[in-house]
Amino acid sequence: MLGVGEMNWPASVTIKEVGPRDGLQNEKVFVSTEDKIAWINQLSGTGIPSIEITSFVNPKWIPALADAVEVATGIERMPGIIYSALVPNRQGLERALEADVDEAAVFMSASETHNQRNINKPLRATFPILSEVAQEALAAGKSVRGYVSTVFGCPYEGPVSIDEVIRVAETLFEMGIGELSLGDTIGIANPKQVQDVLDILLKRFDAKKLALHFHDTRGTALANILVSMDMGITTFDASVGGLGGCPYAPGASGNVASEDLLYMLDAMGIHTGVNREKLLSAARFIQEKIGRELPSRNLQAGSLNG
Ligand code: HMG
Ligand code: MG
Repeated sequence: MLGVGEMNWPASVTIKEVGPRDGLQNEKVFVSTEDKIAWINQLSGTGIPSIEITSFVNPKWIPALADAVEVATGIERMPGIIYSALVPNRQGLERALEADVDEAAVFMSASETHNQRNINKPLRATFPILSEVAQEALAAGKSVRGYVSTVFGCPYEGPVSIDEVIRVAETLFEMGIGELSLGDTIGIANPKQVQDVLDILLKRFDAKKLALHFHDTRGTALANILVSMDMGITTFDASVGGLGGCPYAPGASGNVASEDLLYMLDAMGIHTGVNREKLLSAARFIQEKIGRELPSRNLQAGSLNG
């Protein structure tokens, strides 16, 4: 077994901010369109290279993001930043193209029951829908990102077969996605399991095309990120304030907080290009709008150096 000093750390890591989408989709409080826009504009000023700004799903399913078009057309676009959004189907893509997002993020699960509860379709019926979205988004000059949820466990079925994860991942790559984000939807993964899963996946997929998306429900997200980095992964999704959760995955709480991840990477000398003070300020802003203490440790610690 390797000691911490013998692990392989990358020189730089890409943090993808998913707070405006994953963070807000599960909140009871409706953050006003104006506040969402102001918050995303702040995030654009932090140096973060990619922001998932909203979701073009059915607003009846996710009322918190019903203002997707207004948000996407209201924000200032900073050159060099990828403004991404979730797109479940053709109807969502039409709205996403109208709002001119840079990237469509298609999503599905590796487990049948979560897929059914989340997007109202069995797995086999989901593939052709996402394939059409990917094809049309690419034809419109957009990049396409893929998500596979419940990689490390399903809230309804428990353990998920790695063969199902591989099948979904291969099919999404065949559709033309540029990157696949592996979702620990309910924050159940542990570092040993992450090693085992990546060991298998990295025999088939390039580490540069994989991202990890850890929810921090049980406090294991940073440990999981450490082993992922050791295995060559350099892209991680995170959410300012530690906001987040899937309304169709009982018990799923927030993503790893972007500022907690950044604190760790900065302290380890791993480059991200993100300014911690500005990120904390964006976290404070959204905490105030949500009106409750968010789970981020660095937000509660208060001081930059503490
Ligand atoms: P459906 O009800 O099966 O859709 O929803 P349908 O095609 O049968 O249409 C039914 C109605 O929905 C129609 O309206 C459509 O117009 C409307 P009606 O005639 O009844 O008035 N509709 C839409 N409206 C607006 N935009 C659309 C759209 N599509 C249909 N795009 C659908 C299927 C997928 C849309 C629905 O199930 C849905 O919106 N689900 C959302 C689920 C969701 O957003 N979950 C959270 C995100 S995933 C996640 O958090 C995991 C992730 O973070 C990774 C991880 O952590 O693992 C990504
Ligand atoms: Mg998520």
